[in-house]
Amino acid sequence: MRVRVIHGPNLNLLGKRDPEVYGSHTLDDINAEIQTLAAQLNIEVRISQHNSEGAIVDAIHECAEWAEAIVINPAAYTHYSIAICDALKAVRLPTIEVHLSNIHAREEFRHKSVTAPVCIGQIAGFGVSSYLLALHAAKDIIQKRWR
Ligand code: DQA
Repeated sequence: MRVRVIHGPNLNLLGKRDPEVYGSHTLDDINAEIQTLAAQLNIEVRISQHNSEGAIVDAIHECAEWAEAIVINPAAYTHYSIAICDALKAVRLPTIEVHLSNIHAREEFRHKSVTAPVCIGQIAGFGVSSYLLALHAAKDIIQKRWR
C-alpha cells in the first residue's frame, strides 16, 4: 500500500509556531511518527512539505503515478485554494484531509474548507494523532475499496 502525505504552508515551522495551538512537535517529529506507524501498518509512505500552492498542486499530480491514497494538511490553503481542490478532484484518489487543530473551534474564516468536499473525510483537532488516525483510515479505504 502506498500513501502520500502532503504538508502545506508554514508547517515547516511547527515547534516554534503558535505552540499553544499546534503543540511542541516539530515537523520532523511528526514525520518520524508517521513513518513508524506506516511501517507497522505495512504502508509505504512518501512525505513532503510545500509552502507554495503550485508546488502542492504538482505534488498532488505526482500522486496519480504512485499513490493509492493521499493524506493532506493543506494548512491555510484549506480555506480558499480552488486550485488544490481541483487537483485533488482531478487525480481521483481517496484523500483524507487532516488538521492538527480543531479548525471548527477557531476563527470563523477557518471553519470553511474548500478542499474537504473532494475528500473522503476530514480529521481535525487531535494534534499529531490526526495524521496517525488518517493513516489508519487510508489503509482501511485502500483495503475496502481497491482490493
Ligand atoms: C491547520 C489549520 C489551518 O487553519 C492553518 O492555517 C494551518 C494549520 C492545522 O493543521 O490545524 O496552517 O491546517
